[in-house]
Amino acid sequence: MSKIAVFYGSSTGNTEKIAKKIASLLEADVFDIGYSTMERIHAYNNLILGTSTWGFGDLQDDWDAFVALLSSAKLDGKVIALFGLGDSDLYPDTFVNGLGHLYDLLKNKGGKIVGFTDTDGYHSENTDILVDGRFPGLALDEDNEANRSDQRIEKWLQTIRPEFV
Ligand SMILES: Cc1cc2nc3c(=O)[nH]c(=O)nc-3n(C[C@H](O)[C@H](O)[C@H](O)COP(=O)(O)O)c2cc1C
Repeated sequence: MSKIAVFYGSSTGNTEKIAKKIASLLEADVFDIGYSTMERIHAYNNLILGTSTWGFGDLQDDWDAFVALLSSAKLDGKVIALFGLGDSDLYPDTFVNGLGHLYDLLKNKGGKIVGFTDTDGYHSENTDILVDGRFPGLALDEDNEANRSDQRIEKWLQTIRPEFV
């Protein structure tokens, strides 16, 4: 298996903390999207992308420039896994909506998206982002359910590890 890169956008540090945890568990490289380049995207066959959700269902701010990079990146043959952070108590209708934005951006870009997860055990009412009834990645709520994150991450990693090339 070749190297894995974890890219994250984070405003108050929650997604950063999770990205670093995931990277550590996978022995992956980890990058803040605010400082990332096309060369970095192209250098890895396995990409993990993480965002929080801000405003009312928006991608975290730093994604603007990185979305433009991803839109023109060559992603054929890459394996891509997504994760999103949100607050399911205050924002159940837009819970981890940023995860849905990432999925919409990447679903027809040639890469293989892996790591869909069941909604069991979440308070989300955000059905708009579901794909065949599942989150298009790992959903985490550090604001209300931080005590469940480690278990959710470990379960998710078990499903995506065998997919990496
Ligand atoms: C002003 C504001 C708006 C937010 N909007 C949403 C939202 O629409 N959906 C959601 O799931 N979480 C929302 N959140 C929660 C954040 O996504 C959550 O706190 C996240 O852990 C922040 O991660 P970060 O520190 O990596 O940016 C919002 C938080 C704030 C303060």
